[in-house]
Amino acid sequence: MRKPFIAGNWKMNMTPSEGRAFAAELDKALKHTPVRIAVAPPFITIPAVVEVLKHSSIQVASQNMADHESGAYTGEVSPAMLKDAGVSVVILGHSERRSLYGETDAVVNAKLHLALKHEFDVILCVGETLEERESGKLEEVLKRQIVEGLKGVNGHAMSAITVAYEPVWAIGTGKTATPQDANDAHAFIRTVVEGLYGKSVAESLIIQYGGSVKPSNVSDLMAMEHIDGALVGGASLTLEQFVPIVTFDAR
Ligand code: PGA
Repeated sequence: MRKPFIAGNWKMNMTPSEGRAFAAELDKALKHTPVRIAVAPPFITIPAVVEVLKHSSIQVASQNMADHESGAYTGEVSPAMLKDAGVSVVILGHSERRSLYGETDAVVNAKLHLALKHEFDVILCVGETLEERESGKLEEVLKRQIVEGLKGVNGHAMSAITVAYEPVWAIGTGKTATPQDANDAHAFIRTVVEGLYGKSVAESLIIQYGGSVKPSNVSDLMAMEHIDGALVGGASLTLEQFVPIVTFDAR
């Protein structure tokens, strides 16, 4: 049985004081929820949110992390800094990092190794653009992102890794992949992981879907065999939307 995992990616939203107030309300509203939950505030908002959630089961994630331990990397945030601040999960390879900030699979892989070394759980994001999907390259792109992203990672470390399938064309656009399309992509990802690590690792891998997840579509998505959770952007910013997503109707 794979335990559902739902994470809210706040992106560049929520000042420290907004994040503190929102996290406190979220914690109140989501007590005793049987789902694993994480929120990913912007770096500067992390300490305020960690403080509010220190006795909560809601985990605090970062949206990114440096690809070096320390040193002359202006503007970057190191693994040790995140660890010390109380972060337990890092999101790596989000499509906005890949497309807007030029992160390659090799960079994502370097970050992933550092994150594992510092004993973080990782959400590794993969997903195709509309152009790639329409030109029949869906599987090629997903396979490359999984194989290159996980290069050099051994099977034992896989229990720390969640994969988020986020079709780029569905992120922030209001367009959601149909549950069937998403499930097909998730099944393919599981097959690739099985090829790398065998059946038991593949069967226990949590694969989140991301891209315009909302209260109205979460239950249909979560009902699919290979969809084990969600990475939620826009709809993670209000209680009205995030609470019903996390408390989706399990069927
Ligand atoms: P969205 O973003 O839910 O706003 O589409 C998802 C994501 O980018 O993680």
